Amino acid sequence: MKASIIAIDGPAGAGKSTVAKFVAKRLNYVYIDTGAMYRAVAWAAQDKNISPANEDAMAELTRTLSIQLYYRDGQQRITVDGRDVSEEIRTPDISRIVSAVSAIPAVRNALLDLQRQMARAGGVVMDGRDIGTCVLPNADVKIFLIASIDERARRRCLELQEKGFVTDLEQLKQEIALRDKMDSERELAPLRQADDATLIDTSDMTIEQAVDAIITEHEKRY
Ligand code: C5P
Repeated sequence: MKASIIAIDGPAGAGKSTVAKFVAKRLNYVYIDTGAMYRAVAWAAQDKNISPANEDAMAELTRTLSIQLYYRDGQQRITVDGRDVSEEIRTPDISRIVSAVSAIPAVRNALLDLQRQMARAGGVVMDGRDIGTCVLPNADVKIFLIASIDERARRRCLELQEKGFVTDLEQLKQEIALRDKMDSERELAPLRQADDATLIDTSDMTIEQAVDAIITEHEKRY
């Protein structure tokens, strides 16, 4: 059987990465988290004190940056100029600036090339915002994963608490809603369900049920 390409898009906190990882494991595919790549650029901008509003400086930064994904103990990790930033890119500070960074055309174009190269051989589950619409419009299976804003904020809150961050649920809800708005309203490759994507609402689903639903979609086509 030919190794296929599965694209999973959706708003922040819908469970994309958790579910995508399990789907990849079940199929023995590689999981590629494209959000981590945008977060890595945002981290580098913060590290170098570059404002995302300064598009020229952001374009120059992106040109000189080396972002690499690698896998350790089955987990995707990411480096920026050789430094492993896998944990640092997950802080609330980075979440607050990443949508402004990802709206910059030079940033998107650089990462787009990288993402397409990574998917070329097939056998991948790639998650993000524009995978089915823009990065891999010919993906074999396209999923648009959603959940209610309350449920997404609750999940993100638990995740952050486990990592030791003090979080306020209401504030988190507002931040997630703002990020979705920015991601949906940007000009280039906005967050949108592809016409041929299957919508899955995970609000009342367990992780296992969401994984099964995607595997079923995959099996329908193979
Ligand atoms: O998936 P995650 O929430 O980590 O993504 C962080 C941010 O990266 C998103 O809010 C969005 O601004 C950007 N992103 C994007 N396109 C993708 C993946 C992520 O614009 N394919």
